[in-house]
Amino acid sequence: MSLTRRGFAQTVGLGAAGMLSSSFVIGRGLEAAEFEPGSVQMPDDDGIIRISSNENARGPGPKAIQALHGTISPRAGRGYPPDHTNDLVTTIADIYHVAEDNVVVGTGSGALLAGAARAFCSPTKPLVTAAPTYATSDRMARRIGAPVKMIPVDASLGLDIDAMADAAAGAGMVFFCNPNNPTGTVHTASAVEDFVRQVMRTSPDTKILIDEAYIDYTFDPAVKTAAPLTQEFASVFITRSFSKAHGMAGLRVGYAIGQEETLSAITTAWNLGSMNTLSAAAAIASITDPGHIAEERHENARIREFTIAAFRDMGFKVPDSHTNHIFIDLGRPASEFRAACLEQKVRVGRDFPPMEQTHSRVSLGTMEEMEAAVRVFRQVLS
Ligand SMILES: Cc1ncc(COP(=O)(O)O)c(C=O)c1O
Repeated sequence: MSLTRRGFAQTVGLGAAGMLSSSFVIGRGLEAAEFEPGSVQMPDDDGIIRISSNENARGPGPKAIQALHGTISPRAGRGYPPDHTNDLVTTIADIYHVAEDNVVVGTGSGALLAGAARAFCSPTKPLVTAAPTYATSDRMARRIGAPVKMIPVDASLGLDIDAMADAAAGAGMVFFCNPNNPTGTVHTASAVEDFVRQVMRTSPDTKILIDEAYIDYTFDPAVKTAAPLTQEFASVFITRSFSKAHGMAGLRVGYAIGQEETLSAITTAWNLGSMNTLSAAAAIASITDPGHIAEERHENARIREFTIAAFRDMGFKVPDSHTNHIFIDLGRPASEFRAACLEQKVRVGRDFPPMEQTHSRVSLGTMEEMEAAVRVFRQVLS
């Protein structure tokens, strides 16, 4: 079923018109708000198909929706954090087999990325990051006057692990996005472990942030969370987001796993926000429902295969993606493609320097949205 306003309302059993806009806020993220101010729109305002922010078009799973409804009660009048965030922390710690002190939750993982750059980088401690990759740590590092070493992705659009490891000597932090946004590429658990061990040998004080926002979307069994490495190395920590496979971008929930001293350096450096009771309840319901995430992974893969096949059929190169977005070599500026699509009411991703002259990122919406979008792509690229 297409995710029209009415369709979504029927799916979740909401009839009242007044609840409709909140369902979109929950289901769709605001990545564009941070990087393209002024561009944010509700998904079907003016009939625009918005596939620009790696949002999850299907929104939260049924159990998360149920938890939200169940939490809308007089109970919501009580309980400042940590009352309800404690339960979420305990749940996450149980799942990863770590202590509660090894978990910190925030209003989205973006807050953790910003806080980490603030905590560990400085004018004398550079950030090492990829180009292109997710830019929050990079932006914060620049804001506080820390040098930024941008390591271009390799020919297959994967992170250039060796070059990043070399650049890490003496750095404050490495931002290692796995899978990577926007390229959609991923590195196996053993490749990540080799990277971590190499950096820890040569530069043990350098922090390594492994961002796993999209890891739920991969089917590759060799790809695994780096959470176990956080127990061995105090300098290593991971971040996860509820905004992608969990479909809860508007509820703003993310978390980090690492050693207590590392996490407390982040929470001291930056305010991670104050999570509300509804978000915590939905996050607990969603993370304890792996069946839903498996369904979500399959549905995303079905839509991804369809969309990649369409671009390849048109003769364009698209690397295999392990995320809910694809990065296509269109051989023309992203801005041109974006403007042409927008004229046809399809909004695709922003520029990703240094590849903005050739590559565009397309996020995956619902199958119906992608079928409509592909008709537009065929037209504007013909
Ligand atoms: C790689 C990556 N990390 C982190 C985030 C931030 O997600 P959130 O703050 O919604 O958890 C995003 C959002 O698009 C992302 O792409």
